Amino acid sequence: VTVYLVGAGPGDPGLITVRGLDLLRRAEVVVYDRLVAEELVAEAPEGALLVARDRHDQPEVNRLLVEHGLAGKEVVRLKGGDPFVFGRGGEEALALAEAGVPFEVVHGVSAIGSVPGAAGIPVTHRGVSQQVTIATGQACDGASPEFAALANAPGTLVFFMGLARVGRLADGLLAAGRSADTLAAVISKGTTHEQRVVTAPLSELASAVERAGLEAPALVVVGDVVALRERLGLD
Ligand SMILES: C[S@@+](CC[C@H](N)C(=O)[O-])C[C@H]1O[C@@H](n2cnc3c(N)ncnc32)[C@H](O)[C@@H]1O
Repeated sequence: VTVYLVGAGPGDPGLITVRGLDLLRRAEVVVYDRLVAEELVAEAPEGALLVARDRHDQPEVNRLLVEHGLAGKEVVRLKGGDPFVFGRGGEEALALAEAGVPFEVVHGVSAIGSVPGAAGIPVTHRGVSQQVTIATGQACDGASPEFAALANAPGTLVFFMGLARVGRLADGLLAAGRSADTLAAVISKGTTHEQRVVTAPLSELASAVERAGLEAPALVVVGDVVALRERLGLD
């Protein structure tokens, strides 16, 4: 294997896997996402080629991975959270597979499996929520989420990439039948020392988020599980 698609975890540098850190420490080329903790990028060996992903568009990133992979370099593509959860890891894996470059996916701790919990919100809880639906607040084709289906889904809703559209998300769910007093939370920079959390009923969520001036990355969690945060003493 020459190219490793490694999940770096949600922000806390301690949440990379042992295998991911081991590969990072012996990489020759590291292509890293903007959301990856700088402490992790600093773990690359001296002399490794470090490439910031946000200076390149996706086809260029794919090409870089293929080129360095074909050259036989040990390449770590360090990605926020898990590579296969809203991370375009599948697209990069396809580009490598099509070019005949051997690769391995080293999964990581996704925001879905860590950020609500870091805010004291279990996404499932017996008797409260038996189902979790995750969606993007920003589809790549600009389409709105499927509000009718989402509003009627039982259990917990989690939106990735929803901060900039939190008002539209709340309005869409309300218009599709969710009650105005449904509890919601927005968790900014979850798992890091800059983590901030705002909770509010759906009808007041956008104004509460604006008042607080929350910054990306943030996760939006909707449902009765949000009340557990207070009961767990983390409010
Ligand atoms: C492009 S997606 C990448 C998701 C990543 N692959 C994962 O598994 O978590 C970026 C979105 O993930 C969410 N996210 C990632 N890290 C986060 C964090 N530390 N706190 C809150 N949300 C986070 C935000 O919704 C952000 O807009």
